[in-house]
Amino acid sequence: MELNRRTVIAGAAAAGLAATTLGTGSAEAAPGGRKPVKELFGKLADGTKVHRWSLENGGTRLKVLSWGGVVQSLELPDRHGHYANVSLGFDNIDDYVAKTPYFGALIGRYGNRIGKGRFTLDGTAYQLSVNDGVNSLHGGTKGFDKRVWDVEPFTKGSDVGLHLYYVSIDGEMGYPGTLRTKVTYTLTRDGDWRIDYEATTDKATVVNLTSHVYWNLAGEGSGSIENHELAIAASRYTPTDSGLIPTGELAKVSGTPFDFRRAKAIGRDIRAAHPQQVTAKGYDHNWVLDKGITARPEHVATLRDPSSGRTLSIASDQPGLQFYSGNFLDGTLVGTGGRVYRQGDALCLETQHFPDSPNQPSFPSTVLRPGRTYRTSTVHSFGS
Ligand code: GLA
Repeated sequence: MELNRRTVIAGAAAAGLAATTLGTGSAEAAPGGRKPVKELFGKLADGTKVHRWSLENGGTRLKVLSWGGVVQSLELPDRHGHYANVSLGFDNIDDYVAKTPYFGALIGRYGNRIGKGRFTLDGTAYQLSVNDGVNSLHGGTKGFDKRVWDVEPFTKGSDVGLHLYYVSIDGEMGYPGTLRTKVTYTLTRDGDWRIDYEATTDKATVVNLTSHVYWNLAGEGSGSIENHELAIAASRYTPTDSGLIPTGELAKVSGTPFDFRRAKAIGRDIRAAHPQQVTAKGYDHNWVLDKGITARPEHVATLRDPSSGRTLSIASDQPGLQFYSGNFLDGTLVGTGGRVYRQGDALCLETQHFPDSPNQPSFPSTVLRPGRTYRTSTVHSFGS
């Protein structure tokens, strides 16, 4: 039986056990969790302070930077109650500024790629900042991951969390309209980590916000994720060209290495030499979620590390999920725990609209107009 966090805690309470017996700390015993704690993490070259906020609730521990809304650390207990940081990152601000491949960051204005960094909206052509060959990736050279966000802590009932605010001015990175963005990170009493994104604009624009946590449920720096088992509730995916821009086709996963409808080890088919994998150096694709766009987050993917027993379950209201198998990690980055990150040492599961949607009329629209509010939510639930 798979135990979720609530089962374990309720069971412990019923048995009259202190929460610490399970090694899960004391935060879950206190209703409302612990008030977020702020500390200085470092300074940017211009002297701007970057703060780190520590949150804990329901057995989950989260550390968030005001730089890029970065999840700098996310600690979870294993089946024996031993904690590990399951999210790749750095222990200092300089590495985040100089080298990060979006570790733990908020991504905007547009998650993933826009072909040639160009699109036309209402008859006007826009040229975006280009930072991935000829394409624009994750918002351009200075996306939301490289901005200092205003952070406001909150406790609400049994939840604890942070509101993060960033105003992206008209024309920033080539995007039209001033985009006012609010992202809320909530840790619930069950230890779920929920992200609620909101944005408004004063001119028609495109938007696709996501989070770029690199997961390794055995602990960052512990080696490959090829033994992790992944399930994605998707019968189709969007094949790409050599620049990782979708061709427009929605291809069936059936009979291909892209079939994750039943949980399988990531390593099982990763060397299958499917042409799409050769191009991407592994998995780096958008899965077309069977549930489509939904009013509320619905289950889309499950990840499990058999060695630690840790599980991650993702629910989203979005139509797509980017599964990236850490293909570009190349042993040159030294992470939080002082270990080198090599190819496949983590994976990303980015809830999103499809890449390049502004140039693909058949994909669900990513246009946001004045007077409307962009809203999307992702819920990460953990177990062990
Ligand atoms: C996304 C992309 C990948 C890669 C990573 C960051 O997941 O799909 O191709 O750019 O971000 O390295």
